[in-house]
Amino acid sequence: MMRVMEPGRLKLAVLASGRGSNFLALWEAIQKGELDAEICLLISDKEEAPALGKAVDAGITALFIDPRGYQNREQYEAEIVAQLVARNIDIVVLAGYMRLVGKVMLDAYKMRIVNIHPALLPSFTGLNAQQQALDYGVKVSGCTVHFVDEGMDTGPIIMQAVVVVYPNDNEDSLSARILVEEHRSYCQALQLLAEGRVFIKDRTVHIN
Ligand code: GRF
Repeated sequence: MMRVMEPGRLKLAVLASGRGSNFLALWEAIQKGELDAEICLLISDKEEAPALGKAVDAGITALFIDPRGYQNREQYEAEIVAQLVARNIDIVVLAGYMRLVGKVMLDAYKMRIVNIHPALLPSFTGLNAQQQALDYGVKVSGCTVHFVDEGMDTGPIIMQAVVVVYPNDNEDSLSARILVEEHRSYCQALQLLAEGRVFIKDRTVHIN
């Protein structure tokens, strides 16, 4: 059994491609004293991502790193890792980051990259998870906080939260109900890491 983080205030970097509501939820939890962490940096691969503006408003360094400026994923990720290392980041938080993480980042931050997915993994990986769940006809769905590995939404699960799917749900209504749980779960899972309570053995995460 391996402890993922020793107890202590976490230095976080958030990677986001879009809206940034999970980023904001984490930032607010920190302000309220519910999450013992500091968001040192937000990086986006999309210049127009609203998450960048939200970070600036919160007084957090926000970097747009354009993947088109690099020859391949390795070089792009090497730049991201350089930014993370320069700020002594403990945990990389993917929050609506719409790229597969490759070997360069995974090697540099082994079991230190977390993601949130809007479905109960291993069901409905990838894009449009909420619509996939509706199309399948499930009666419950939810969200999953997990460590990132080389697969798509396949890494060890830290926490899951369940929401009921109602007969009249559509993608928007279900997504909104799941999003409330995403914000809560992401803060809770990161707080467990800050408290040094997260252990991993094989692919099973144990919370002490
Ligand atoms: C969330 O639904 C998250 O689960 C998924 O992308 C969305 C990001 O939302 N990975 P936001 O940018 O945090 O508002």
